[in-house]
Amino acid sequence: MDNKHNISVLISEEDIEKRVCELGEQISRDYEGKELKLICILKGSIFFCCELAKRITVPVKIDFMQTSSYGSGTVSSGVIEIKKELDEDIAGEHVIVVEDIIDSGNTLYRLIPMLKERNPEDICICTLLDKPERREVDIDVKYNGFCIPDEFVVGYGLDYDQRYRNLPFIGSLHINE
Ligand code: IMP
Ligand code: MG
Repeated sequence: MDNKHNISVLISEEDIEKRVCELGEQISRDYEGKELKLICILKGSIFFCCELAKRITVPVKIDFMQTSSYGSGTVSSGVIEIKKELDEDIAGEHVIVVEDIIDSGNTLYRLIPMLKERNPEDICICTLLDKPERREVDIDVKYNGFCIPDEFVVGYGLDYDQRYRNLPFIGSLHINE
């Protein structure tokens, strides 16, 4: 760890695993008899999406998309750019968009209508983390792992400047001045 950064455990590896299992079971029940398409939003959701997929017992396809908000740094600007497009069409499919964290909500607020135009059978959101205090727009989140306070978190796929994604837990990042 960089000595400017102090990371304290917010959600342990064990608690994440337990919750991901529960979400997998819930999704498997809800989609019984159907085939699912998971859309993994790169890069942050990659660890969550893989672990979740392993806990789902109905047939699953996985595709990847990468978005970024235009404009500066850590504040999302409300306009999204697609940096990596899906490989396959989603028309007629049961789609779950898998996110690492929902903050302002702006990314999904724009992405979901774009995906709906491609005529999936149905589409919903599954996020590992949610910071409800930060929400700027109203979005419907069907599956949520954990609500967390308004803190900057890293680990289990989430980064600070591309670092710390490989931590096996979710940690709060404190920057020592
Ligand atoms: P939103 O459009 O504001 O909801 O932005 C959500 C995106 O911002 C997430 O997918 C993350 O990439 C990033 N983000 C928001 N909060 C955090 C955090 O605490 N740690 C790491 N990335 C975050
Ligand atoms: Mg993200």
